[in-house]
Amino acid sequence: MRILITGGAGFIGHNLAIYLAERGFDVTVLDSLERSTEFAVNRLRERGIPIIKADIRNLGDCGGFDVVVHAAAYVSVPESVVRPIDYIENNVVGTAKVAHECGRVSARIIYLSSAAVYGNPIKLPIPEDHPINPLSPYGLSKYLGELVIRNFSKVYGFRYVILRLFNVYGPGQNPAYAGVISSFIERALRGEPLVIYGDGEQTRDFIYVNDVAEVILRIIESDLFDNGIYNIGTGRPTTINELARIVMEVLGRDDLRIIHEKERPGDIRHSYADVNRLVSNFKITFTSLNKGLRIMLNDMNTLYS
Ligand SMILES: NC(=O)c1ccc[n+]([C@@H]2O[C@H](COP(=O)([O-])OP(=O)(O)OC[C@H]3O[C@@H](n4cnc5c(N)ncnc54)[C@H](O)[C@@H]3O)[C@@H](O)[C@H]2O)c1
Repeated sequence: MRILITGGAGFIGHNLAIYLAERGFDVTVLDSLERSTEFAVNRLRERGIPIIKADIRNLGDCGGFDVVVHAAAYVSVPESVVRPIDYIENNVVGTAKVAHECGRVSARIIYLSSAAVYGNPIKLPIPEDHPINPLSPYGLSKYLGELVIRNFSKVYGFRYVILRLFNVYGPGQNPAYAGVISSFIERALRGEPLVIYGDGEQTRDFIYVNDVAEVILRIIESDLFDNGIYNIGTGRPTTINELARIVMEVLGRDDLRIIHEKERPGDIRHSYADVNRLVSNFKITFTSLNKGLRIMLNDMNTLYS
């Protein structure tokens, strides 16, 4: 089976490409390389996974692929506030291009959406039918991408799955856009204090990147393209204080200080997924944060050695 991964030289895309290639799939990566890392590209090259350098907005015919995992996007919330039009153009028009070119030749599509579509939750854990209320142009662009996929599926007849990812972590996050885990690890490795915004009691739902890859593997293997929407998280809230403790423990740096800085405006207080639909459909078991961080550091060893 031939699989195309757009944004496949990015953080999630390259981990997914490796995961699927190791399980015998014929994987091709398409990426503009605008925001990929050397780390990700090297890992793909070492494994002989082909990389097509191209922008999804100029995508040509993508016949010959059975499944397209659409991961290419601009992914920074703060940047999207400064460059909203670029975000709409890249993430929405780019998604339309992928859905049109790939969908009309009958490829099945897995669209990586985001929990950012929910905005500030009015209900916890957050179910898939939670009201949509994105707080940033990024969140809006991911939601508009969902609407494009749904509409084009009706028009062109392809099947799809929309995955709303919560906080994904693992090796190869782009430091420029990476979240709190990478920031903690970078600082801890330099022996610097960890910076927490606010009291640290805010919660997030951290899922290890290979758990996301395993869900995608099962969708592809069992042809579970049901035109459905799935939350992709663990359902387990972790406070940022707890996360800081686990990172220090895993790195053996209990000596580090924690600095609390002013809460960032617009930060969501609590966010974690209702994963009933995910667990009942995919019977997935989640990697613990402690174990995921250990595997991640091991995989990143080459980067830091
Ligand atoms: N990382 C997370 O926690 C998270 C959470 C929710 C949703 N997502 C979604 O998952 C997907 C992957 O995110 P990531 O964290 O791996 O980001 P990333 O920035 O590491 O990877 C995105 C990749 O897409 C490429 N790209 C961007 N625009 C492109 C274009 N026009 N043409 C071709 N390639 C292009 C970049 O060069 C980059 O390699 C995104 O769609 C994102 O919205 C990620």
